[in-house]
Amino acid sequence: MNSNWFKLVMKATKVRYGKNLLLKGMPVIFNKSGAELTIGNNVTINSSFLSNLVGLYQRTIIVTRTSESKISIGNNVGISGATIYARNSISIGDNTLIGGNAKIMDNDFHPIEIEARNADIKEKIGAKPITIGKNCFIGCNSLILKGTILGDGCVVGAGAVVSGVFEDNCVIAGNPARVIKRL
Ligand SMILES: CC(C)(COP(=O)(O)OP(=O)(O)OC[C@H]1O[C@@H](n2cnc3c(N)ncnc32)[C@H](O)[C@@H]1OP(=O)(O)O)[C@@H](O)C(=O)NCCC(=O)NCCS
Repeated sequence: MNSNWFKLVMKATKVRYGKNLLLKGMPVIFNKSGAELTIGNNVTINSSFLSNLVGLYQRTIIVTRTSESKISIGNNVGISGATIYARNSISIGDNTLIGGNAKIMDNDFHPIEIEARNADIKEKIGAKPITIGKNCFIGCNSLILKGTILGDGCVVGAGAVVSGVFEDNCVIAGNPARVIKRL
């Protein structure tokens, strides 16, 4: 399977992408009918094991899960074996780099209340938009959880578990992630 073939699949599923999209290996991109998934110009998506020598444990996965979901990926963004999974919305600014195996999830996948979880009530799944600014650098194996807002120029440390609102130019690390310095 080559990337031209995959780009046809993206077009068929109404993924909007800009010029010079570079796919190294095959990502998994699922765009629910009615959802919005836009990818800017000069975006690189790494999905094969050695497409980033940090070593990728998975292909890049990009999912709009409901017909109301939105994902917007800016220009010059690089994504390495990451998951970007929206029920609500995820926005990623220009020039942001997303490190190997990072996961950006705007929802919990399952309700936290037992009754709703056992009954599989999708409407009870916690979901809040995620906004990642421009010129950010997201470290490998980090988790960006629902409701997170990262200002422009933020750096997220390797393995961080990020939840919350962070202003521009913060370096954030740890679990739970905290500001370790300002740039
Ligand atoms: C977050 C990061 C950028 C900080 O680098 P730095 O500014 O040079 O910071 P330092 O190495 O001086 O560390 C500063 C402090 O933060 C701590 N720290 C740094 N990175 C950390 C991390 N990922 N998790 C937890 N703590 C971290 C250090 O232990 C140090 O603590 P101390 O002040 O108590 O000694 C870097 O450590 C990092 O995680 N880089 C990401 C690498 C990566 O994933 N690249 C992408 C591959 S695809």
